[in-house]
Amino acid sequence: DLLNDTPRCYEHKQYRNGLKFCKQILSNPKFAEHGETLAMKGLTLNCLGKKEEAYDLVRRGLRNDLRSHVCWHVYGLLQRSDKKYDEAIKCYRNALKWDKDNLQILRDLSLLQIQMRDLEGYRETRYQLLQLRPAQRASWIGYAIAYHLLEDYEMAAKIIEEFRKTQQTSPDKVDYEYSELLLYQNQVLREAGLHKEALEHLSNYEKQICDKLAVEETRGELLLNLERLDEATEVYRRLQERNPENWSYYHGLENAQKPSSLEERHKIYEEAWEKFPKGLVPRRLPLNFLSGEKFRECLDRYLRMNFSKGCPPVFTTLKSLYNDKEKVAIIEELVVSYETSLKSCRMFSQNDDGKEEPPTTLLWVQYFLAQHYDMIDQQTLALEYINTAIESTPTLIELFLIKAKIYKHAGNIREAAQWMDEAQALDTADRFINSKCAKYMLKAGMIKEAEEMCSKFTREGASAVENLNEMQCMWFQTECALAYKAMNKFGEALKKCHEIERHFVEITDDQFDFHTYSIQIYLSLHDNPLTDDSKELQADTANLTDKELKKLRNKQRRAQKKAQLEEEKKNAEKEKQLKNQKKKKEDDDEEIGGPKEELIPDKLVKVENPLEEAVKFLMPLKHLVKDKIDTHLMAFEIYFRKEKYLLMLQSVKRAVAIDPDHPWLHQCLVRFFKGVSESKELPEVVRTVLKQEITRLFGDSNAKSFNQAYLTKHSNSIPHRLAAAKMMAYLDSSTETKAAELATALDESLNNRTIQICTEVLECLRSGVLGDCKEHAESYRTECHKLYPYTLAFMPPGYEENTKIANGDVSTETEELANEM
Ligand SMILES: *[C@@H]1O[C@H](CO)[C@@H](O)[C@H](O)[C@H]1NC(C)=O
Ligand SMILES: *[C@@H]1O[C@H](CO)[C@@H](O)[C@H](O)[C@H]1NC(C)=O
Ligand SMILES: *[C@@H]1O[C@H](CO)[C@@H](O)[C@H](O)[C@H]1NC(C)=O
Ligand SMILES: *[C@@H]1O[C@H](CO)[C@@H](O)[C@H](O)[C@H]1NC(C)=O
Repeated sequence: DLLNDTPRCYEHKQYRNGLKFCKQILSNPKFAEHGETLAMKGLTLNCLGKKEEAYDLVRRGLRNDLRSHVCWHVYGLLQRSDKKYDEAIKCYRNALKWDKDNLQILRDLSLLQIQMRDLEGYRETRYQLLQLRPAQRASWIGYAIAYHLLEDYEMAAKIIEEFRKTQQTSPDKVDYEYSELLLYQNQVLREAGLHKEALEHLSNYEKQICDKLAVEETRGELLLNLERLDEATEVYRRLQERNPENWSYYHGLENAQKPSSLEERHKIYEEAWEKFPKGLVPRRLPLNFLSGEKFRECLDRYLRMNFSKGCPPVFTTLKSLYNDKEKVAIIEELVVSYETSLKSCRMFSQNDDGKEEPPTTLLWVQYFLAQHYDMIDQQTLALEYINTAIESTPTLIELFLIKAKIYKHAGNIREAAQWMDEAQALDTADRFINSKCAKYMLKAGMIKEAEEMCSKFTREGASAVENLNEMQCMWFQTECALAYKAMNKFGEALKKCHEIERHFVEITDDQFDFHTYSIQIYLSLHDNPLTDDSKELQADTANLTDKELKKLRNKQRRAQKKAQLEEEKKNAEKEKQLKNQKKKKEDDDEEIGGPKEELIPDKLVKVENPLEEAVKFLMPLKHLVKDKIDTHLMAFEIYFRKEKYLLMLQSVKRAVAIDPDHPWLHQCLVRFFKGVSESKELPEVVRTVLKQEITRLFGDSNAKSFNQAYLTKHSNSIPHRLAAAKMMAYLDSSTETKAAELATALDESLNNRTIQICTEVLECLRSGVLGDCKEHAESYRTECHKLYPYTLAFMPPGYEENTKIANGDVSTETEELANEM
């Protein structure tokens, strides 16, 4: 009996009792080396945070009883808790050798397989589970999903069909689970490309599918795929009637009617204008393809509707048109004319026949123009419009949000944060603005202020920073890390990075539960799966009369209710136990599951081998964002410092494939080139490979002429000039004066002149990577200040101190006010 007590205690998390039983068994000399008990003792200790001892015991137990499925299973559980998923899979397989039909082990194994994306293995295991429990719904669904994930859609659909046939439902009964099963089956058929079968399936079962909208939308899609265009048109017309604001129905209509000219395409929308005169989407969509006078007319109607209603997000809906210069010009001309006319005669246009607009319309027009000019980088005009609007309505939060945004885009994040603070002061209960404000403060390096801002919404009694970490509030932590980094507080910044990394580890681990959940979601399997017993019950009901059936159903319902109550009672008890346990834990000062190592900034910053740490962060990027050039350039920077030439080669090759002219990449290439030609310690084989690859990448040139060629090719773009200038100085310090001249050019004719790149040039001048040019830096700053008068980075010396004093005054004033209240 004792032998059974131990695992039971483990399952119920009664670790202390479990250990007691183990001790009792092992103290009997006959059982001192009893394998399974040793293993269970190890597993239990693992839960109490004693990992090393746990491994020792479990391994010893296993050695004593290699044919025990329990010992192998326990070893698997231990490895799994240690995140060694591959090892755990091996253990489970061994366990199954000795007990091939063990349901628990098979289920655990299938979860591990899906976690590791071992789909073939998953399918096999699900097959065994189906064999063992053919009456369970989950067995069938699991097996079908295995095929679905392996992209064998037809097989998946067949399995679902086999299962569906066993389901007895009457056509008029509302059965959500069956309905979801049908929709899933239909999805699989569509993914298999079996459009015809899918449409038939849909027609056959539509009565039993509860989600009628899904039926219609799916029908439309299938009819389009089958080129049955007239029928598709009808379906999309019906959907449009149902909801004229869903743009995908207009796309459906376009695809079904196949307009051959712009006019025909336009007609689809003109019809909608008549049917739905208040419809927004049918007005907005044609703006994408119309141009010239037609565009202007349509835009005019669209904007007037919205300005008179006072709809703040209207600018956002037009943002995607801003890559078309002609459209931008029309928008500007039209809206500026509204403003002029509204100011003089309260109408959108002097030619209008007398319908006067309320004063708010002018306000929304100015608000729009502020966003418009900000978007096209004319911040002076943008500020004029927003300030006029604020003067007329100083209580409208949206206006301050835009003002803050304009300052941010103009390069003055500190001013931006102040205006954001102003906005949140107007409504301190608005969580969105609170977060925005905190974000701006972090960008401005005001970490303390940002924390205080957030604390208005975090849990009372805990520090805001800890609470935000608990809640995995990653935007805050990311901005925080950047802020610390900008202040050279690397330890604090690293702490934030590690906290974020831990969130991702947790999220990965949570997938264990998630895999089970997601299967549930697929089919809304929220109920208990059918057991063998209830299956039989159901078969029996076939011959019952209605009355008998009703009686039986009632009986079942009562039984269910009772079971539910019992479950609740059990849970309450469990909770109580847990509470007791927790208290005990605190008494004993023991941690269940093992504590996490505390993140101490000072320790983090003094890490022995930072490059190894950097590599740890790089790995997920290489997996997940390998199509982004920064990933490979970052990789290069790490390997360059580790002098790993082959890995550098791999990184630059991947980057070249993405964007061969990227300025940062150019700097990597030049440094790589120089590094290889000067390095003395490379093995001969490696050198040969590198030489070949370099010839392929650079041709028969040297680093200097390679750099010169790049400069010639991109001499009209500032970021490229800066890259070339930096490399010029890097390769030959005698060219420094020339390099600084190259980098500091600001002519109107050059491309890619932005606040960011000018700031970078200024930093390079100051840091010396372009040679000794302090004086050059000051004159460059003055020039930039003329171009970007609001940008903090280009303010004259002394500006920072002055504003700091001003800020100080503001905060004491606020404090005084707060004290008075
Ligand atoms: C619009 O229709 C598409 C399918 O055609 C659907 O996926 C989407 O949820 C719908 N959107 C709304 C807001 O109803
Ligand atoms: C534009 O006006 C229409 C009609 O008055 C309205 O339904 C829609 O919400 C407004 N658009 C925006 C973006 O708010
Ligand atoms: C139901 O009735 C049919 C025919 O009357 C019979 O063959 C069958 O065995 C019955 N089923 C059960 C479960 O009693
Ligand atoms: C620089 O400008 C050119 C053309 O104006 C553009 O194609 C390129 O993408 C820009 N490059 C960068 C790095 O901004």
